[in-house]
Amino acid sequence: MKGFLEGLDFRLILLTSLGGAVFWLFDAVLDYWFETGRFTFTQNLLYDYPAHEMFIVRPIIFLFFIFFGFVLAFLVRKVKRNELVYTNLFDNINDAIFVTVTDEKGNLEFIDVNRRACSLFGYQKDELMKLPVPRVVAAEEYPKFVSGVLRQPNGGNSTPSEVTMIHKDGHKILSEVNTTDLTLWQRSTYLSVIRDITEIKKTANKLINSEQQLRVLTARLLEAQENERKRISAGLHDELGQALMHLKFKLSALIRNHDPGPKREDCDSVLHYMDQTIDYVRKLSRDLSPTVLEELGLTSALHYLIEEFSEHYELSWNSIHLDEIDGLFSSQAQVAIFRVFQETLTNVVRHARANEISVDVTREEGRVIFAVQDNGSGFETDEVLASGGAQAGIGIPSMQERMRMIGGSLEILSRKGEGTRVSFVVPVETRDVESVAV
Ligand SMILES: Nc1ncnc2c1ncn2[C@@H]1O[C@H](COP(=O)(O)OP(=O)(O)O)[C@@H](O)[C@H]1O
Ligand SMILES: [Mg+2]
Repeated sequence: MKGFLEGLDFRLILLTSLGGAVFWLFDAVLDYWFETGRFTFTQNLLYDYPAHEMFIVRPIIFLFFIFFGFVLAFLVRKVKRNELVYTNLFDNINDAIFVTVTDEKGNLEFIDVNRRACSLFGYQKDELMKLPVPRVVAAEEYPKFVSGVLRQPNGGNSTPSEVTMIHKDGHKILSEVNTTDLTLWQRSTYLSVIRDITEIKKTANKLINSEQQLRVLTARLLEAQENERKRISAGLHDELGQALMHLKFKLSALIRNHDPGPKREDCDSVLHYMDQTIDYVRKLSRDLSPTVLEELGLTSALHYLIEEFSEHYELSWNSIHLDEIDGLFSSQAQVAIFRVFQETLTNVVRHARANEISVDVTREEGRVIFAVQDNGSGFETDEVLASGGAQAGIGIPSMQERMRMIGGSLEILSRKGEGTRVSFVVPVETRDVESVAV
């Protein structure tokens, strides 16, 4: 009962009770004057004389008045509560809301704004309501604002549009405006939700800038790495390689001039060790700088990589298919493809422990698809590829970056125990491909 009474408008009940009492009095007075002169006024007032036929009419009508008061108070409470919910919601939403309609000339005018709209634009509510809508929108953006508001058919939602709005003091508010078209009182009404995205935009721009800087830095690092590798490779080949060869010839000459004996055997083994070292230096030099690209072209360079891996590791190739792809890419793209291919095979050798490897390079209209599949240990891509993850290396991020730099895309499909498939797609450049210079 308490809940029912709570919030009822008791002034209304009092008023209707008073109405009931007035009726009672009035009815008694009328009866006294016009019908029952024999009874005293007090009798008439209190005992409902002359007695009405079935029941005592005046108290019942009085009670009816009170009941009517309760019903009225209950309805008023409901309406008030709905309104309270509405105004609370409306005013406490953290986005500015404009409710607008179009006048006879087709101009937008306010019919309501919420509290946030007033604080966002720096006006008092009545001040803002009196303003023409164009006053709060940057002049050059008003057509965009209006088309965002009026575009959608009845009941539709507009796609959010970015509009520059104007604060009372003149500063700009970068906003995202989202409008819903409603019909209120048989009139098209527009409910625009305006979100201040100035700060979000600033942060987003900062992020974009720093991402761009990072990308430039990565590209430069990769370029520097490539140059450094080239320098070391040349050093190994020209200096160390030559020095070792020289030593080898000297040693051979010394051995030739000595008689066979136990010392001679030692010298032979040193010579053998030197041959191995020379081979190793040559391989290191070739791995570091893919001169093979310059000398033989991309298709042969990829074949060469496969042979190199077969020579040094025990790999069983399931299938190898390489379309001829020479002359399709710039030198930068060729180096990138070569490196990504090399890293993919290195990863298979290092991590996969696979006994079946397939390589597929297919030339299609406008692009080339490279794929390397192994049936090895596989890995959880989500864990490994998450930046900063415990297992994250720099091989895969470099592959991704290299692909991004040449407009390609890289996909790695893998699962623990289910092998790995690395594929990358590189668009063929339409312009004349410059000569290969690594
Ligand atoms: N073919 C593969 N099979 C199994 N695991 C792989 C394969 N390729 C990559 N991985 C996993 O992904 C990780 C990250 O690779 P990568 O970025 O090249 O770094 P790194 O090779 O230096 O560890 C590896 O440590 C390995 O756990
Ligand atoms: Mg690796």
